[in-house]
Amino acid sequence: MPRLVVIGAGGHAKVVVELARSCGFEVVGCLDADDTPRLVVGAPVIGKDDMAAALLAEGVRFAALGLGSNRTRERIGLRFEELGFELPALISPRATVSPSAVVERGAIVMPGAVLNADCRIGAFSIINTCASVDHDCRLGVAAHVAPGGRLAGSVVVGDRAMLGVGSAVAPGVSIGDDATLGAGATAIYDIQSNAIAVGTPARPR
Ligand SMILES: CC(C)(COP(=O)(O)OP(=O)(O)OC[C@H]1O[C@@H](n2cnc3c(N)ncnc32)[C@H](O)[C@@H]1OP(=O)(O)O)[C@@H](O)C(=O)NCCC(=O)NCCS
Repeated sequence: MPRLVVIGAGGHAKVVVELARSCGFEVVGCLDADDTPRLVVGAPVIGKDDMAAALLAEGVRFAALGLGSNRTRERIGLRFEELGFELPALISPRATVSPSAVVERGAIVMPGAVLNADCRIGAFSIINTCASVDHDCRLGVAAHVAPGGRLAGSVVVGDRAMLGVGSAVAPGVSIGDDATLGAGATAIYDIQSNAIAVGTPARPR
């Protein structure tokens, strides 16, 4: 069984540990800035990020990002790749993924998610529990569609954009880089980069 380390040890790391197991990896443990010995759904916290070289020397080739912050996830993902780890796309066996969908390295697709025809999910992104991404959508690097988020066809989502729990995006709408769409919001107009937009229709605050 291929061995994998999870970076992070908080709530999101828990679901990533279980996702990695469901994808056939042995999770050797978690790395975290707080390296107090403890278990994360049965996976031990084995040290801080500076354990990386020792893990590679032990033959642990794979890493997964258990970090909720989009900016941090992108930065740490790139750093672990530079160190020599492979960050596989982790797609739950309980997700529904079109054969024409593309999921880039380090991206995570949780149980119940649906990825439809010709969509592309950027590196280090999260398609969270029961989120759906419809045909021809394009998601950038380290974006996050939170649980229950719904993207209609041909939506464009920028790098590190955050689409809150239960949000929805109408067909063809663009969400800019580093933008946040609030929980439960409905975007029917484009949202500019760095904006925080809430409500229905979603408007910048
Ligand atoms: C939009 C969001 C980022 C704003 O966070 P914030 O800057 O800390 O905002 P605050 O909680 O200080 O709220 C500021 C105002 O915006 C309103 N507001 C916040 N989020 C809102 C939302 N999603 N929809 C409607 N109004 C919202 C608040 O009621 C408050 O209004 P008031 O000034 O009239 O009292 C946040 O509320 C949100 O929706 N985050 C999504 C979280 C999520 O889905 N995470 C998924 C993790 S898996």
